[in-house]
Amino acid sequence: MQTAKDSQTASLVEVVNQAKKVLDLNSIENLVIPAQGLYPHRVLWDSCFAAIGLSHYDVKKAQLQIDSYLKTQWSNGMIPHIIFNPLPKYWWDRHIWRSKISPLSKRSIATSGITQPPMFAEAIVRIGNKLTDIERHKWYEQKLDNLIAYHRWLYAERNPEKTGLITLIHPWETGLDNTPPWLASLRHHHAPWWINMITWLKIDKVADKIRFDARYVDPSERSTTYEALRLYDALRKIRKKKYDSTKIMPNSTFAIEDIAYNSIFIRANSLLKEIAASINQKLPEDLLSNIAMSEASFNKLWDSEDKKYFSRNQKYGNFLKEDSIGSLLPLYSGIISDSRAKELLQRIKSKSDFNTTYPLPSVPISSPWFKPRRYWQGPSWININWLIIDGLKRYGFEKEALELSNKSVLLVKDKGFYEYFNPLSGEPAGVVNFSWTAALIIDLINQTHPELGD
Ligand code: GLC
Repeated sequence: MQTAKDSQTASLVEVVNQAKKVLDLNSIENLVIPAQGLYPHRVLWDSCFAAIGLSHYDVKKAQLQIDSYLKTQWSNGMIPHIIFNPLPKYWWDRHIWRSKISPLSKRSIATSGITQPPMFAEAIVRIGNKLTDIERHKWYEQKLDNLIAYHRWLYAERNPEKTGLITLIHPWETGLDNTPPWLASLRHHHAPWWINMITWLKIDKVADKIRFDARYVDPSERSTTYEALRLYDALRKIRKKKYDSTKIMPNSTFAIEDIAYNSIFIRANSLLKEIAASINQKLPEDLLSNIAMSEASFNKLWDSEDKKYFSRNQKYGNFLKEDSIGSLLPLYSGIISDSRAKELLQRIKSKSDFNTTYPLPSVPISSPWFKPRRYWQGPSWININWLIIDGLKRYGFEKEALELSNKSVLLVKDKGFYEYFNPLSGEPAGVVNFSWTAALIIDLINQTHPELGD
């Protein structure tokens, strides 16, 4: 007779099988894109998350995601946030960026010219955990120089105050494109005349109807056309400077010490140290002292007035007090004190803050910015849950981590592998068959049910 436990196990196996199909569906010559249709190009943190999921059942394919992504690393160490699909029909996407204008780019591969959250070290370690000792040693040896070069680039070019806090120059670099602190910062700047003209003539309303993303998702869930044009304009300015951070930074539209990015970077630094130590390699002195400085400076992102972590404007030093899920990511950094971690956990448990039926909302529900279906302004995202679960576990909040993991798995099991979800109703939104949702659900199920895996 089948017990309740057997049938629960069977249904989890089924979810994992479906998730694997999603990753297959999104594979082009074994390389995983975020989703067919809307996202035909490879994307930095998406590729790392895909590799983490793949590591459970196809470690070679997981390694391939990382290896081939790192081949696009620029000669200064920068790793671009998009690798463009080479098909002729994507000429325009490649042309918008024209990465070749930078002498530092890889001539043969069209990429963007900005970066995204540094998830490589995490993916490399997760893959390493699946290898034999000898294989792992080789794998780490091969990847160490790429990681060192990337982290060094961040310190050399995105660390203008020399505090070790990394400054981002475009909202796309956060991965949380239209998150409130960045949107607020965008609204602070005057729009160029041509965007004002488009808005005045109401051409943006017409554009709403013919937007590329509107073919796949409801445009009311995404950035507005006005915002998208502003982001494009910011990109144009960066492109004019040939993606050279030293030229961009002094007059950058955006210069933000982003709390989400810096939390992930702090964790990436710790993992980098672990990788080097496990193969008896010494990290360069300059890097080690920068890493120590980042850890010492992280507290600058704590606002003792509101008792919250916030992103900070690098030029003026003011906090961007629009609340967002980024304020919880210091849990993932692993370097905050136990008492701070507890305070963040309280926010996760508070009904007026981040405690929704289908957690975690990307903006607290009490925020005036909260919109349950709008991209990074409210919906729950599986990658963020995954990062928070990992952080909670490392602080010993096992019960809460398990609860969040179970809720994430159940949500996806019931609703499908969507890009994001309404945190109040669980209603799915964005594109379906989204790679990181599938990959990270495989990982979460493997963490809670190791007997099913590998
Ligand atoms: C959106 C997300 C970004 C992600 C990309 C591809 O732009 O905001 O984080 O990397 O889609 O999935």
